[in-house]
Amino acid sequence: MRLRFVLVIALLVAGCARAPAKAPTLYDELGGQPGVAAITENLLDAFAADPLVAPTFAHVDITRWKRVFADYVCQTADGPCRYTGDSMEEVHRGMNINEAMFNAVVEDLITAMNRQHVPVRVQNRLIARLAPTRAQMLYR
Ligand code: HEM
Repeated sequence: MRLRFVLVIALLVAGCARAPAKAPTLYDELGGQPGVAAITENLLDAFAADPLVAPTFAHVDITRWKRVFADYVCQTADGPCRYTGDSMEEVHRGMNINEAMFNAVVEDLITAMNRQHVPVRVQNRLIARLAPTRAQMLYR
C-alpha cells in the first residue's frame, strides 16, 4: 500500500517535470504590456526628432495612436490584445510614404527598442513581422 503511494507520487513528480514549459511569445520577449508601452513612448520621442516622420504626425491624436499602435504590436507579437484599427493600407493612405520614410520608421523603432534594452534577436523577430506592411503603405 505504502509502496503504491510512493510510486504514484514518483510518477506525478516525473510527469510534472516532463510537462513542456510554455514557450514565451514574442510579446513576452518584448517585455509584455509595460515593455510594449515603453517602446511605443520611445518611438514617439524618436519620431519627434526625425524630420522624415515628424511632419506626418502634426495633426494626429497621439493618445489614441499610442493605444492603437501598442495593440497592433501586441497582436503582431502573439500577445493577448486585439487591434481594432483599419488596415495598414487604409491608415497610411494619402501620406505618400516613400522608401526613405519607411526606413526611417524602422530605424526609429530600432532606437526605441535599444533604449528598452530589447535583445537584437528579439528586435529582428518583430521587424520581420512588421516588414511586410511596406508593400501595403508605400506610395498610397
Ligand atoms: C513598420 C511600419 C509601420 C507600421 C507597423 C505602422 C503602424 C501604424 C499603426 C498601427 C497606426 C495606428 C492605426 C490607427 O490609427 O488605426 C499607424 C498610424 C500612423 N502612422 Fe504608421 N506604421 C508604419 C509606418 C509608418 C510610416 C513610414 C509613416 C510615415 C512616415 C507612418 C505614419 C503614421 C501616421 C501619421 C499615423 C496616424 C494616422 C492617423 O491617426 O490619422 N507610419 N501606423
